[in-house]
Amino acid sequence: MNISIFGLGYVGAVSAGCLAHDGHHVIGVDPTQAKVDLINAGKTPIIEKDIGEIIASSVKEGRLRATTDCKDAVENSDVSIVCVGTPSQLNGSLDLKFVRRVCEEIGSVIKDKSTRHIVVIRSTMLPGTMADIVQPTLEQASGMIAGQDFGLCINPEFLRESTAVYDFYNPPKTVVGASDDTTLAEILAIYEALPGPKIGTDLATAEMVKYTDNVWHALKVAFANEIGNIAKKVNVDSHKVMDIFCQDTKLNISPYYMKPGFAFGGSCLPKDVRALVYKAGALDVNTPVLSSILPSNKQQVENGINLVTSKGKRKIGILGFSFKAGTDDLRESPIVELIERLLGKGYELKLYDKNVNLAAIVGANKDYILNQIPHISKLMVTDIDDVINASEVLVIGNGDEQFRDVVATIPKDKHVIDLVRINEDAVGQEGYEGICW
Ligand SMILES: NC(=O)c1ccc[n+]([C@@H]2O[C@H](COP(=O)([O-])OP(=O)(O)OC[C@H]3O[C@@H](n4cnc5c(N)ncnc54)[C@H](O)[C@@H]3O)[C@@H](O)[C@H]2O)c1
Repeated sequence: MNISIFGLGYVGAVSAGCLAHDGHHVIGVDPTQAKVDLINAGKTPIIEKDIGEIIASSVKEGRLRATTDCKDAVENSDVSIVCVGTPSQLNGSLDLKFVRRVCEEIGSVIKDKSTRHIVVIRSTMLPGTMADIVQPTLEQASGMIAGQDFGLCINPEFLRESTAVYDFYNPPKTVVGASDDTTLAEILAIYEALPGPKIGTDLATAEMVKYTDNVWHALKVAFANEIGNIAKKVNVDSHKVMDIFCQDTKLNISPYYMKPGFAFGGSCLPKDVRALVYKAGALDVNTPVLSSILPSNKQQVENGINLVTSKGKRKIGILGFSFKAGTDDLRESPIVELIERLLGKGYELKLYDKNVNLAAIVGANKDYILNQIPHISKLMVTDIDDVINASEVLVIGNGDEQFRDVVATIPKDKHVIDLVRINEDAVGQEGYEGICW
């Protein structure tokens, strides 16, 4: 394929070298004459393992050249991959002037091009930038329509500096958000030989994935450092701890606990977070990340309450109120907190949870219900239909299988608020709303 690469910094130089090495014909574009000259002399504009040899051989074999001339590059390629910088501004927002400029330049050239062109953005940009800036700028400059007259993609880059060439050939995944299926297939084909999953999605999801990844990496570092700081104070080797932690690929390094939904609760997580943060404080260890976990969890309860009250209805039915399906444990259930807050605001509530049946439960949990939350036990009913019929808003509070079908059969005049994403097929259905999706 004939490919032009805009921006010959870390991402652009590695992409240009590796794609040329793979047999594509690549033209690198950069306004910095020195970078262009270096590439044309078979030299690398960046310090990065293996890229020098790759660029030298690709230039020698005639598959890679560079220019400052956008027109030359776009006219002589089928695909333009944009790798210009998106630096931070003083207030934390992204400076998109390079992206804007390059879109204006490419748009003005494809306007007069006889063959269909594809524009791929590899720069990191916040969700909505493709729709709000890239697409309109290209369309305005070209007089064409994305997805129809030209293809448009976002293809986030996951390489790490210092291992960038290795990462190019061994990506954790390849993600392409595209304007249309034909464009998606053409761009995924470029990466066909690479290992790892190849994921086609929409433009905004691909943009969000990149930020989710990087913020997660940053959170992991901060989390591990805070654990390390506490461990050091109690004479425990944090590296031994984290080695053991990482061997748990079932609960720790895994998709478990990674589904956006309602607050966590139960008899362990809140108690144990509270205790560790208290201990850190007693040891004079500052833990801004760990200390913000419970406030964040509390905020999610607020978000749930706000969602319910926003419907402007007074009769609320709760389906599932133990902290997770398959248990009758109500201790520190965030749904119990939601129920109590709604009761305090004068809402009429009915509750159903097949696992929390007063006639059947015994021991500590029964004591808890009767002594700590007796006002709630009075609202519990044993027939799910009693709740559905009496309520204007139904809140699905845990992932009990029984509630999956309920979503599909609930009359259209009722609102359903789902805190757990019980029914994937119902997402988008009128009257059905998730707490954070
Ligand atoms: N560096 C990384 O490790 C890395 C990893 C993943 C993603 N990213 C993202 O990729 C993007 C590029 O990062 P980078 O580190 O390669 O940036 P960089 O600053 O090293 O390089 C950007 C290049 O774009 C050039 N440029 C500016 N305007 C141009 C124009 N109109 N036409 C052509 N070239 C132009 C600049 O001269 C510069 O050489 C950023 O959005 C960044 O967030 C970077």
